[in-house]
Amino acid sequence: MYSEKVMDHFSNPRNVGEIENASGVGTVGNAKCGDIMRIYLDIDEQGIIRDVKFKTFGCGAAVATSSMATELVKGKTVQEAMLVTNKAVMEALDGLPPVKVHCSLLAEEAIHAALWDYAEKNNIVIEGLQKPVNDIEEKEEDISEIY
Ligand code: FES
Repeated sequence: MYSEKVMDHFSNPRNVGEIENASGVGTVGNAKCGDIMRIYLDIDEQGIIRDVKFKTFGCGAAVATSSMATELVKGKTVQEAMLVTNKAVMEALDGLPPVKVHCSLLAEEAIHAALWDYAEKNNIVIEGLQKPVNDIEEKEEDISEIY
């Protein structure tokens, strides 16, 4: 049911933890399943993501997608991180079962929420970034049309 990559990131998740005095922190939940994700970003003066950590109270697919998402944004610029969508994360994991697609939204939304926090703290605008939601259920109608 799950790809080897999903199983690998689930059993051995990368970048788990917290960053003290992070440049941006984002927390997003899914009220339907009760899962919660928090992402911490450390961003340097050039706008490069030097470090990223995550914590999740969530299912295996949420752990695996968050782990992969943190790997994909690490070392990237803020603008490049905007391209790390839940679709990109799922592709990097060789797919997810359809019922687990919504779990991958937690990682994307938590990254966006952390970027939003960073932008607000630094008084900058990140192109294409929209105000984050607290609960991804608000977005689920959008994905049901895509998948
Ligand atoms: Fe809630 Fe996967 S079941 S995030």
